[in-house]
Amino acid sequence: MTVWWQKAVVYQVYPRSFQDSNGDGIGDLQGVLQHIDYIKKLGADVVWLNPVYRSPNDDNGYDISDYQQIQPDFGTLADLRAVIDACHQNGLRLMMDLVVNHTSDEHDWFVASRTSREDPFHDFYIWREGRNGNPPTNWRSEFGGSVWQYDPQVDQYYLHMFTKKQPDLNWRNPKVRQKVFDMMDWWCQQGIDGFRMDVINLISKPEPLTDDPHLTQDARTSSLGYVANGPHAHEYLQAMNQQVLRRYPLMTVGETPDVTPDDAIKYAGFDRGELQMVFQFEHMQLENDPVVGKWTTNRASLPALKAALSRWQTALDGKAWNSLYWNNHDQPRVVSRFGNDLAEYRELSAKMLANTLHMMQGTPYIYQGEEIGMTNVAFADIRNYRDVEIKNTYRELVEETKTLTPAQMKAAIEYRGRDNARTPMQWRDAPNAGFTTGTPWLGVNPNYPQINVDAALMDPNSIFYFYQRLIQLRKDYPIITDGHYALLDPDDEAVFMYTRTLGDQQLLMVSNFTDQTLQRPVAARLGTQPEGLISNYPAADVDTLRPYETRTYLSTVVG
Ligand code: GLC
Ligand code: CA
Repeated sequence: MTVWWQKAVVYQVYPRSFQDSNGDGIGDLQGVLQHIDYIKKLGADVVWLNPVYRSPNDDNGYDISDYQQIQPDFGTLADLRAVIDACHQNGLRLMMDLVVNHTSDEHDWFVASRTSREDPFHDFYIWREGRNGNPPTNWRSEFGGSVWQYDPQVDQYYLHMFTKKQPDLNWRNPKVRQKVFDMMDWWCQQGIDGFRMDVINLISKPEPLTDDPHLTQDARTSSLGYVANGPHAHEYLQAMNQQVLRRYPLMTVGETPDVTPDDAIKYAGFDRGELQMVFQFEHMQLENDPVVGKWTTNRASLPALKAALSRWQTALDGKAWNSLYWNNHDQPRVVSRFGNDLAEYRELSAKMLANTLHMMQGTPYIYQGEEIGMTNVAFADIRNYRDVEIKNTYRELVEETKTLTPAQMKAAIEYRGRDNARTPMQWRDAPNAGFTTGTPWLGVNPNYPQINVDAALMDPNSIFYFYQRLIQLRKDYPIITDGHYALLDPDDEAVFMYTRTLGDQQLLMVSNFTDQTLQRPVAARLGTQPEGLISNYPAADVDTLRPYETRTYLSTVVG
């Protein structure tokens, strides 16, 4: 039995970079409202909005100081209600980001928490004594440095898995859980349709808090993996489900770094009463280096990428539901990462990647700009980047520890940095790509005269219409939702080929990941009466794959 969110396609809006309506250079909710029809035209069913809550903006809204207020940069609660209504009038649902592993240090709870050890809110956060003048454990933050920050007022350290302005909540405290559940319930009452839950598998920490044994002397990677999936994570999520989630027709997806398929089946198994989906990261970390983590220019091999995605397709089938994504606000642009963003191949390879992902089992997520093939950006001056992760890591890896040279770090930022995804949406060939009449908070990618929504909508062959067609195919062919997945030729370094089968039907998806023309026995893999559902080239010889060519066929299999 498929349910609505298994048939849905999600469009992710990063409001800060989507559309500025008042010329202050920051995208806002009125800006989102201006483009609901665009999202509708694409064919998506759900809008996921990155955080718009009150925030000092240390980590672009992932540091929340008031869960029930809107950040003034984005507008008001009335504006959000207008977005919810507009979505509903257009048959779209709205999913909010939920950031409850941590708050801002400017949240009232934390402000009270740090006043004294006796304060009733002290135990809302994770405070520990130091060890002989050193932090309580060796854990490293996701954004560099220790996860512990000393506070002289209470003479203790507080835990922050991200920046020191993002103290982690103490989920062991039942009062914390109750406050969070009440707040979620309030949002459900406002008419929202779902939650994307930020780093939700971090809410339960290891017990007791002891050193991370995986951290070697010179590792500059984080302790996220060690801290994730703590002993009470499932208990907390089941309580959340009982008290809030199950009472509304919601869509829920947990962001869960460092999970295996087995872990994911615990968080999102059909019979678990926790979440509906998780975002796993295996295919997003293939290039990582043991010492510097993501700050490298390593490229993933195609067999590794195929293995990562296929493992999830197979392991979750019938047990839990995959989320399918290439991009989000934390990842570089996929056409620059796994495709080819040179003018000659950008459109072909963006379509190839789209078809490769959208024919898999799961719920696809499209990140703003992906549907027009937006690319990574390279700012000449390091000071033009805004991301706190880039800034903090640059300071640590280049300036303090000299682990990387400035040139190495610059190349790594241009390849993997989060600001690649956060440059303003490219609407038109007009100043600032039509994003703002003011000065954009982050520079616009200079390629906007060529790559923009206007141009895409005018070209019937554009990436946009290819995505629109993929979404429509998913609605028309149940096999795309339900079919069982099988990878073909796992070791082929140039071609990704897989089938989906349902009853006597078979889908065959084939993608050439290179700029070469290749021969592969495709025809031999097809059943009878093959019908081409989608391709990025005019039909020609079935066994010849032109540069970045991609196709999906439907055929009948007997036996
Ligand atoms: C998640 C968010 C990311 C944020 C981090 C801390 O990974 O997607 O943008 O920086 O959590 O909240
Ligand atoms: Ca604005």
